[in-house]
Amino acid sequence: MAIKPVLRMGDPRLLEVARTVKEFSTPELNALIRDMHDTMEAQEGAGLAAPQIGVDLQVVIFGVKRNPRYPDAEEVPYTVLVNPELQPLTQEMEQDWEGCLSVPGMRGMVPRFARLRYQGSDQYGRFIDRTVGGFHARVVQHECDHLQGILYPMRITDFRTFGFTDVLFPDQAPMDE
Ligand code: NI
Repeated sequence: MAIKPVLRMGDPRLLEVARTVKEFSTPELNALIRDMHDTMEAQEGAGLAAPQIGVDLQVVIFGVKRNPRYPDAEEVPYTVLVNPELQPLTQEMEQDWEGCLSVPGMRGMVPRFARLRYQGSDQYGRFIDRTVGGFHARVVQHECDHLQGILYPMRITDFRTFGFTDVLFPDQAPMDE
């Protein structure tokens, strides 16, 4: 168990394109996934990308369990996704709030594709192929953006919707991704 420090916006490592994973089921990859899982749980995030803990590889994890703190949050199965490829299935964009563990204390409205197909594999090389929409699709797009060096504020189209979490949501903030 190892909770790693999460890099914050401004760190140039968050702006790099991550490298493809070539070998699966290695002790190094399994240890990375464990660290990412422990870090995400400790921060109560909905997702985490390897570059956020300073590891330059195309690995993301995400998942949202039923949580009494977020009664309206859609459940997303816990997923390890390596070398992901995203294919939008609509040009329709949805705007919703996002936060990020690398941009602590802030939220913004981000447009994302409403439906998409994603493919990749888990850390053992087992193929993943899913078609999703809604919050699941949003989380995948947010995490995979991290692998391209893109942070959600770079996607905001109306900066009037970008602000401090406790000011925007004095009662109940959405989850961080
Ligand atoms: Ni993020």
